[in-house]
Amino acid sequence: MKIGTALTKNATKALLLGSGELGKEIAIALQRYGVEVIAVDRYQNAPAQQVAHRSYVIDMTDAQAVKKLIVKEKPDFIIPEIEAIATDALAEIEEQKLSKVVPNARAVQLTMNREGIRTMAAEEAGVQTSSYAFAETYAELKSAVENEIGYPCFIKPTMSSSGKGQSMVKAEDQLEQAWHHAKSGGRADTGKVIVEGAVDFDYEITLLTVRALNEQGLIETHFCAPIGHRQENGDYRESWQPQDMSPIALKNAQDIALKITENIGGLGLFGVELFIRQDQVWFSEVSPRPHDTGMVTMVTQRQTEFDLHARAILGLPISTVLNKTGASAVILGGVDAKGVAYSGLDKALADSDVDVRLFAKPEAFVTRRMGVSLATSDNVTDAIEKAVRAAKLIQIIE
Ligand SMILES: Nc1ncnc2c1ncn2[C@@H]1O[C@H](COP(=O)(O)OP(=O)(O)O)[C@@H](O)[C@H]1O
Ligand SMILES: [Mg+2]
Repeated sequence: MKIGTALTKNATKALLLGSGELGKEIAIALQRYGVEVIAVDRYQNAPAQQVAHRSYVIDMTDAQAVKKLIVKEKPDFIIPEIEAIATDALAEIEEQKLSKVVPNARAVQLTMNREGIRTMAAEEAGVQTSSYAFAETYAELKSAVENEIGYPCFIKPTMSSSGKGQSMVKAEDQLEQAWHHAKSGGRADTGKVIVEGAVDFDYEITLLTVRALNEQGLIETHFCAPIGHRQENGDYRESWQPQDMSPIALKNAQDIALKITENIGGLGLFGVELFIRQDQVWFSEVSPRPHDTGMVTMVTQRQTEFDLHARAILGLPISTVLNKTGASAVILGGVDAKGVAYSGLDKALADSDVDVRLFAKPEAFVTRRMGVSLATSDNVTDAIEKAVRAAKLIQIIE
């Protein structure tokens, strides 16, 4: 394993497709090992672009634009940070062995569409999921709900993230509105929506799972301590680590994560989302990259989820050891405005167990994540309280 010198001819180069807050931390983690980082997004001054060696603004769903940039930059690694990417361009690049797609092009293809990942999980990997069906018309949806799935259920666009276009439907009179919401709220209209039976879980977790090389050069799977989280409108508000679980539930969760990540293959970190009731575990979805709820690892693990991703990609040894109990709480924009200011950082940081990350996104939206507060404590409840308190102390001003 060799790493060149950034900004010279022999540099080891990584191209980030998507430059949000997670990409920013991946960029920093890679740069610590001397990797040259190129950050791409659809708008200028995205978080990772602010710390990268170079950046580009392109439409990442445009296959020609993606290919042109890859041919120009010739990166060693292409690291997708978002779901909306021209995946056929990545498949072509992978086939021609121009760059290594992390973890591989199929992973990006499978996870950008709920139909791909759900079908793989339930039919190929054979793990337990909620009941589900796909519908192309309202009549199909209604019939699927009435005959197979029942109420309550979730209706989602097949292509969407962060809860966009998603609704929980408790009774028939809400179904039609949910259908229209899913049809118009997705990233792209695939013509299909997914309906999922609601899983009545006790709690939900993200199990960060890492595929990395061991000393013999063989791929080994490692698990971080489970991360619990609370979602609101399909987006996370607080996460904590470790989530207390029964040993059997944890074993079941790890078994599912292993099956899913082995099916996907490649090297890197994955965020496996799971629902837990007592000892039972349901697979929900997976990110083939660091997960937003995993930002808590910036204060709980010596090797954060970003370090783990960077190391695994580079073929370096990893450790998923948990050092501290901690929590994260998101800081939402609260306003629609450009070039906002942040106050209250002094108050938030007065607690020495607290840290804050501000992403410096050029534009705020009411529900856009602009930062995150992080806190450690000797127990999860207290860590969450500290993180939430700190997040509330940060004021975003127009
Ligand atoms: N079938 C389901 N049963 C119970 N809760 C669900 C189900 N689907 C989604 N949810 C809730 O909504 C959240 C977001 O759904 P998810 O499918 O992860 O969407 P996204 O891809 O936007 O993150 C989940 O973390 C969970 O809290
Ligand atoms: Mg999710």
